[in-house]
Amino acid sequence: MEELYFSEQSREHILGLLSRCTDILTLPHIVHQILDVASGKNSSASDLTSLIESDPALTARILSVANSSYLGFTKKVSTISHAVVVLGFQEIQNLALSMSVVQLFDRRGSEFTEKLWRHSFSVGVGSRMLASYLNLRMDGKYFVSGLLHDMGKVFLSQYLPEKFNEMLTVLERQDVRTTYHAVEEKFFGMTHAEVGGKLLEAWMFPREIVDAVAWHHEPHRSGSNQALAACVHLADLLCTIKGVSPLKDRYFLPMDKKIVPVLYDLRENFSTEGLIALMGQLDLETDRQRALLSAFRW
Ligand SMILES: [Fe+2]
Ligand SMILES: [Fe+2]
Repeated sequence: MEELYFSEQSREHILGLLSRCTDILTLPHIVHQILDVASGKNSSASDLTSLIESDPALTARILSVANSSYLGFTKKVSTISHAVVVLGFQEIQNLALSMSVVQLFDRRGSEFTEKLWRHSFSVGVGSRMLASYLNLRMDGKYFVSGLLHDMGKVFLSQYLPEKFNEMLTVLERQDVRTTYHAVEEKFFGMTHAEVGGKLLEAWMFPREIVDAVAWHHEPHRSGSNQALAACVHLADLLCTIKGVSPLKDRYFLPMDKKIVPVLYDLRENFSTEGLIALMGQLDLETDRQRALLSAFRW
């Protein structure tokens, strides 16, 4: 089997691809303008409002998120200025960034891609459910981090399709008794988690989202927000156990036990029963949020 693996030059090659890719796959100009306004000390809500209103497609998508049951507002949000007030600068920035990233990579067709989207969406919804179970203050970063957590897989499957498919074939083999991540590391010299983190970093996502994606398999290593990384990690685990996964992964990674103290700090009575109950509600919640998906994918 050794002859199948050629990771040495691979890591360098991927790092090169990543740096070129973020030059070629640029986010729309409006996203950079939103980042500027959202981080500017002197910007006002009306600056952000007029910027978004200058892009009708973005306006429609942000309004559809604001009116989805995702946010749970009872009053209809019919204008961007209202959306800016109820969502806040940071939330609008996260939404605009993730919608643009999804659009850059969203090529429909293969069974793998379709399953990966279903998985990513469920992990987004699940991360949010976990955040609420862990008594965290609710905001959009949980959904966005979950939605984008496997962006590295999207990148590898689109930029190195032959090698990626070869890896999938190896994973199907009965004599390969190792995890997806170990095989991935041997093939590419790096994991999809690291690839995803580097992509989002290059696109100037907030640090805690970059870390949640980069460490979604080892949340205790997140240097900024371990609770956020833990929500994505646990949601990923629950979805994989339920079979909402792009792969027949017989050897998926176990839970990162080093995160357990963080979980107990957040919720004293954190329990496996609690997680199993959440897993039971996940399908229902994912269905309820289906309208949200169309704001990201259309
Ligand atoms: Fe992953
Ligand atoms: Fe995943």
